[in-house]
Amino acid sequence: MDNRPIGFFDSGLGGLTSIVHTMKLLPEERIIFFGDTARTPYGSKSPETIRQFTMQIGDFLVKQNVKMIVIACNTVSATCLADLRKAYPDIPVIGVISPTAKVAADLCSEEDRIGIIATKVTVRSNAYEKKILEKHPGLKLFSKACPAFVPLIEEGIIDNEIMDLTIKYYLDDFVCENNINTLILGCTHYPLISENLKRIYPEMRIISSSKEVATAVEIELRKRDMFAGRTGGENVFYASDLSENFVNMIKTVLGKEETELNIKFKNLDI
Ligand code: DGL
Repeated sequence: MDNRPIGFFDSGLGGLTSIVHTMKLLPEERIIFFGDTARTPYGSKSPETIRQFTMQIGDFLVKQNVKMIVIACNTVSATCLADLRKAYPDIPVIGVISPTAKVAADLCSEEDRIGIIATKVTVRSNAYEKKILEKHPGLKLFSKACPAFVPLIEEGIIDNEIMDLTIKYYLDDFVCENNINTLILGCTHYPLISENLKRIYPEMRIISSSKEVATAVEIELRKRDMFAGRTGGENVFYASDLSENFVNMIKTVLGKEETELNIKFKNLDI
């Protein structure tokens, strides 16, 4: 039994989509979230810069006495998972890509045509391809970077014609030419546009990295006998820039009023 909080982080508000699933699955767990909203997006930055930001966040979470670190970001999972594990050998560190790749490998057959949509960094890393094909060789995989999705989502441009046009700009030809029937949302921001995706491609099977990481957290806590024994303490949501949109998005994603949420500003450069 371990009543310390679980530390989640993302480049911005995408990681909140993982938290929602974790809260449903493990309601007794306490969460500390850090969204690097001042420096988002990470997905078009160099691996060196992403690593520097990631280690600052890791140190901050460890100082908050977390029992586990969840990288609620595909871009960081693709580039810095090993760095975090090396830096904090006593704390389990979970990334989003392996659990999602496992689900895709189990669920899909050779007849499926699987599209992986993600940031430029995640696509360039081929992390999904490697993990999926390791588990299920022969699956047909296609990947597509969609770099404009994250900035639009961070701006709250979601339920909107601009987002629909951007989705079609990136995905219409990709889906049609490759005959895609399954889409892996390889960025934790993308569940926030899953309604748009379902409306535009109604037949598409969607696999979400945000959902799968919650199951991985449960498995890891069980394996290490680290479940929280009681509900207690508040979840805390830190951001490096407390924009109006970040606050609005937390309220929408978690379905709570601002007064019910402990939202704090934290500048990691200081
Ligand atoms: N949510 C991140 C991911 O899963 C964000 C990407 C970004 O900052 O570009 O990759």
